[in-house]
Amino acid sequence: MSISVPYCLPLIDEAVVAEMNDTLLNTGWLTSGPKVKAFEEELATFCGVEKVLAVNSWNSGTQLMLRWFGIKPGDEVIIPAYTYSATALAAINLGAKVIMVDVGDDFNIDIEKIAAAITPKTKAIIPVDIGGLPCDYFELEKLVTMHQHLFMPTHPNQEALGRILILSDAAHSIGATYNGKRSGALTDVSVFSFHSVKNITTGEGGAVCLNLPAPFDNQEVYKFLKHFHLYGQTKSALDKTKAGKWRYDIVSPGMKANMNDICASVGLSQLRRYEKELLPHRQQLFTRYQDGLSAYDWAYRPTLKTADKISSAHLYMLRFRSVTEDQRDAIIDYLTENKVGTSVHYIPMATFTYFKSIGYDIADYPNTYKNYAQEITLPLYNTLSEEKVDYVIDQTIKAYKTVTKKIIA
Ligand SMILES: Cc1ncc(COP(=O)(O)O)c(C=O)c1O
Repeated sequence: MSISVPYCLPLIDEAVVAEMNDTLLNTGWLTSGPKVKAFEEELATFCGVEKVLAVNSWNSGTQLMLRWFGIKPGDEVIIPAYTYSATALAAINLGAKVIMVDVGDDFNIDIEKIAAAITPKTKAIIPVDIGGLPCDYFELEKLVTMHQHLFMPTHPNQEALGRILILSDAAHSIGATYNGKRSGALTDVSVFSFHSVKNITTGEGGAVCLNLPAPFDNQEVYKFLKHFHLYGQTKSALDKTKAGKWRYDIVSPGMKANMNDICASVGLSQLRRYEKELLPHRQQLFTRYQDGLSAYDWAYRPTLKTADKISSAHLYMLRFRSVTEDQRDAIIDYLTENKVGTSVHYIPMATFTYFKSIGYDIADYPNTYKNYAQEITLPLYNTLSEEKVDYVIDQTIKAYKTVTKKIIA
């Protein structure tokens, strides 16, 4: 029997269908209602933060928070050069200038290189927990504190924070830990994505985790965002169901970024099984790849754990030492021919037409290019069997051998 391994499949099983059926048949809600409320509350408990706002994508959650912080044209936002373009575009769409910083060997932004990128125009840093491995938030916060004297606030929330905002792009890292704390609680603000390839999915969706320091009151910030993410309306449809509560006001020029109850029910079903079942299972499959490739020096395997971090095992980002970009591409072709789906995380933004047209040059980010040129991402998801992981390992070894013509024991 021939084996075929798709790159990714979302988890849609009986439990997900049961939760969706409950929403559709028993609640009378389609838009933001009781399931969104439950999803926000259970996520906040899981992450260990006071408040979580469910939104319709990572992008809208991030734009919401950048707008809350008063990001405007002329401001600078620092991001890693190695990430999905969404990280850059959220800031660019608000008129900010994105300053890209090269990454390290672990794929994450090189904290030491951030110092040289900070100017009086820097308003936010968006580190990305690539593949699910948290960034060094302790070092990052130290760096931001050291540069506090350069910060020039131009908005009341910037005055109140008194320093650069650290907004974590936690699109990959739900469930990951750093010094025992979960992603979501690692810095000022973190934004998850629940796009269909993510560890927990709502089809499309995201969530903003609020962990702002004093003098901010996260409950109050949540209240503001709750209005702002729904056209600046003071009452949601759920609030208006209470007697005498039909009258509402519009208090800000808000966005339309709310999650709906159908999406939230898919996410709820997965979240409730995430800690005990889905996350350990992903980590187990990740470890199976690690063990199966451990005998090969050419296989530069991604990190699952360090002394202070545990990854959410979102992506199995394998690099091939000493291969060229063309050889990497040929390895992908071999795997495709043998029915193994793969992906590349990431084609560097500085190689795309748009980013080149506004002045970015891949020559400025040598580690980003090197990571990209030698990387392929292997299939990793909850419905993947161990037999299929073994097949992928076997095919990957054969692909490397065929492409590089090396004899492998
Ligand atoms: C690192 C990273 N940031 C942001 C996003 C954007 O997420 P969304 O599609 O939910 O806006 C993604 C999505 O793939 C991502 O991988």
